[in-house]
Amino acid sequence: MADPDYSLLTSQLEALLEGEADGLANASNFVGLLYNELDNINWLGIYVLRGDELVLGPFQGKPACVRIPVGNGVCGTAAATRRTQRVSNVHEFPGHIPCDEVSQSEIVVPLIIDGMLVGVLDIDSPSLDRFSETDQRGVEKVCAAFCARLSGQRFI
Ligand code: SME
Repeated sequence: MADPDYSLLTSQLEALLEGEADGLANASNFVGLLYNELDNINWLGIYVLRGDELVLGPFQGKPACVRIPVGNGVCGTAAATRRTQRVSNVHEFPGHIPCDEVSQSEIVVPLIIDGMLVGVLDIDSPSLDRFSETDQRGVEKVCAAFCARLSGQRFI
């Protein structure tokens, strides 16, 4: 299966969330759509910011660690810096938090709604260097559409 057309995926997401005001339902469908459309991944989900911790939210994949302090691991670094972390080899990332032992590469995108960090989207792959610059731009585009749609909605 080839990677998706990210513009098309963004349109699919907008159609999927259209008319629904429940943020938890929308976050769950966002995760379900991406997990099924991206090839060669083993885990995809949202960690929600609660205080100075990230807490596990809607996800697809094996059960994962529940709490990640902001600043720790790939997710906590994305939250602390508000910048996407694209990691070609998780074993070389200082402080990486292993959840599923098959994960080899990872991308984490901060989710910012109405100017506030609300969490991160985390995607793990069983292959090294799975995520290209094109994937990063594409996933960021889909995340931006999700965040725009969730303006004013609570999903925690
Ligand atoms: N690897 C992440 C932890 C979350 S799991 O991959 C689902 C990290 O280092 O933050």
